[in-house]
Amino acid sequence: MKTLVINNQKGGVGKTMLAVHAAWFLAESGARVLVIDLDPQANASYTLSNARPGGSSADLFFKPDVQVEPHPGVTILAGDRELDAVDAQLTRTVPAFRTAFDRVAGGFDYVVIDTPPTWSGRNYAALMVATSLIAPIDLETYALQGVKQLLAQKGSVEKAARQGRPIDFLGLLPSRFQSQSPRQRDSLQALLRQQGARIMYPGQGVLTQRQGYAEALDLRTPVWMIRKTAAQEAGREIRRVLATMKQRLDNLPGPA
Ligand SMILES: Nc1ncnc2c1ncn2[C@@H]1O[C@H](COP(=O)(O)OP(=O)(O)OP(=O)(O)O)[C@@H](O)[C@H]1O
Ligand SMILES: [Mg+2]
Repeated sequence: MKTLVINNQKGGVGKTMLAVHAAWFLAESGARVLVIDLDPQANASYTLSNARPGGSSADLFFKPDVQVEPHPGVTILAGDRELDAVDAQLTRTVPAFRTAFDRVAGGFDYVVIDTPPTWSGRNYAALMVATSLIAPIDLETYALQGVKQLLAQKGSVEKAARQGRPIDFLGLLPSRFQSQSPRQRDSLQALLRQQGARIMYPGQGVLTQRQGYAEALDLRTPVWMIRKTAAQEAGREIRRVLATMKQRLDNLPGPA
């Protein structure tokens, strides 16, 4: 079992878009994929409402004896407002998540966790159990600031909750990238200069701003299933990114 966490404490950067496509992609070959939606906005849960329901993701924090039957395809543990209560009782809810996660996730081949845009006990819990982390970023103002914060949080969870066990960092993935915009291209170059290529998604992967992605979320279907030329192009782009992700996950050792 491998756990992919999509996280960046910045809103609207394409976390959910990537999370649901990662789940669809991983499930294509018959793998058992569990999606945990830790965002009370529940956008991933909406888009995956045709997937097999596994219950509420809040159960992981509040009912450590929770059980979810693993099946081939995508199973969704949906986000709900009860998740807002997690932070009020962190010393209880975070250890409960650890226990419930170990019990539930073991039967699946992959777990994909979508996270909310503000730092909270839920993001902490996600990083605590992550095999790999992808951080979608936008290249607008303050992107660099958010990156520093994210890397600091990753480091502190590794130290405090993983006995120093590192999270495999797939990197910063420019998402909604406007390749025609000189400002965005400059911003990408600045990021490379400041942080180095090592911190970026492998193979210089980027997801460009394309209508097809938004349409896919509304239609609740993978972008590569939409029969329009533009959507098919988007499908090829994101499948390249997801193939890199899957290869990386498959080559890593399982959880300790
Ligand atoms: N590459 C893209 N091109 C065009 N639109 C996109 C792209 N990625 C995401 N979107 C759209 O942008 C909006 C934000 O995307 P998404 O919900 O995935 O971001 P998020 O980071 O999960 O947001 P939040 O922080 O609110 O959870 C959505 O309306 C989505 O349809
Ligand atoms: Mg989201």
